[in-house]
Amino acid sequence: MLFPRDFTWGVASSAYQIEGATKEHGRSPSVWDTFDAVPGNVFENHTGAVACDHVHHLEEDLDLIAGLGVGAYRFSISWPRVMPAGTDAPSNAGLDFYDRLVDGLIARGIQPFATLYHWDHPQSLQDRGGWLNRDIADWFAEYAAAVVDRLSDRVTRWMTLNEPQIFIGHGLIDGTHAPGLTLSRKESLQAAHHALLAHGKAVDAIRAHARKTPSIGWAPVGDTVFPADDRPESIEAARALTFTIRNPQGNWAFCNTWFADPIIFGNYPEDGLQLFGQDAPLIEAGDMEQISRPIDFYGLNIYSGVPAHMTNRGPEVLDFAPGNPRTQFNWPVTPQALYWGPRFIYERYKTPLYITENGLASMDWVHRDNSVPDPGRIDYTARYLAELRRAIDDGVDVRGYFHWSILDNFEWAEGYRMRFGLIHVDYQTLKRTPKHSYYWYRQVIASNGSELEALEPTA
Ligand code: FCB
Repeated sequence: MLFPRDFTWGVASSAYQIEGATKEHGRSPSVWDTFDAVPGNVFENHTGAVACDHVHHLEEDLDLIAGLGVGAYRFSISWPRVMPAGTDAPSNAGLDFYDRLVDGLIARGIQPFATLYHWDHPQSLQDRGGWLNRDIADWFAEYAAAVVDRLSDRVTRWMTLNEPQIFIGHGLIDGTHAPGLTLSRKESLQAAHHALLAHGKAVDAIRAHARKTPSIGWAPVGDTVFPADDRPESIEAARALTFTIRNPQGNWAFCNTWFADPIIFGNYPEDGLQLFGQDAPLIEAGDMEQISRPIDFYGLNIYSGVPAHMTNRGPEVLDFAPGNPRTQFNWPVTPQALYWGPRFIYERYKTPLYITENGLASMDWVHRDNSVPDPGRIDYTARYLAELRRAIDDGVDVRGYFHWSILDNFEWAEGYRMRFGLIHVDYQTLKRTPKHSYYWYRQVIASNGSELEALEPTA
């Protein structure tokens, strides 16, 4: 069965992971430049200094994106490139780069979906406390306004934050991502509150500055629990675990509700407030109203989920069967995550959804005949898309799907060893080689998703 006629097929990336050119346009260092310069922080000490050198391969990359036939491209804007001091004066040279990117997309008939924050805030703002400083909400809104002033005659789709769960959970709690902090629970909850406030202030800034009516969303982690079988009590168990503060990963930062309830409902979930007690964030008058400004869509980044069932102790997560398929990242292959994740989130938050990221890392290399076969990526994506289509059939309002990622890229603490691209990148020569999955996805898009399983990859 086809996807809805106006379904948006897309592909995604983020600034620090592909751009390189970290010293051009007057760009200042971001927290990631600082973090990856420290030996031991990133796999084999890889850095984002060159990455895919996308800044210098813009036209080639735009042609490759267009070659897929996608309707939309999700990218992020680098805060230190467009506002090197973090606040005050925007950099024209930096904004010019995104001008060219946006013009290039529109000339090719591709709708830009811009993310304002994909983890790379200026180091100078980190030196002033980063997310721990309440002022960051105003700094972020100021930066958002500068970007919107320049691009909103052509860009109407905006996302504020990418995955607050990850930049708080890994950046500020376990220290495996920039800026590499291990804050207390109280401090990290306060930083998360500031991130939510930044989101809300940016929503206002976008609406106030947009020259065309904007459509605004965010792109959190879709922390997904699915029923282990089709018994109603298993479904109930999965739903309960999807919306609890005691999420199955055992770290509050990775849960859905602590971030989404404030944004959609204007309040923190009760179970979290009870659990945190004195550690709960300081909330000033007006904060919750600011955080819960209406948004137009809810982005979901979903890669995997865990199965749950009901026991006499209550809902519990089950272990995977030995030998279940895993990606190179060791993430379980769980297509049903793209049915239950969107379904549960839509039932609770009733906001139109986009899958803003989905994909996998696999061990791809250029074969002797210069092709890059990646059957795992094709099989994974076909299975996940079939589940997404089933969710749509069952009434979940999913407007689009963005595959992560267009290019192999700098996978944060894993460096370049995790390859998520539809296009292989040789980091020595910077040569791009579309993988089999690129040609396969092109057919999926051209056929609007019909016959997913029957399509063969052909160059
Ligand atoms: C998500 C990130 C994205 C990429 C994928 C694999 O958590 O948003 O930048 O790293 O995972």
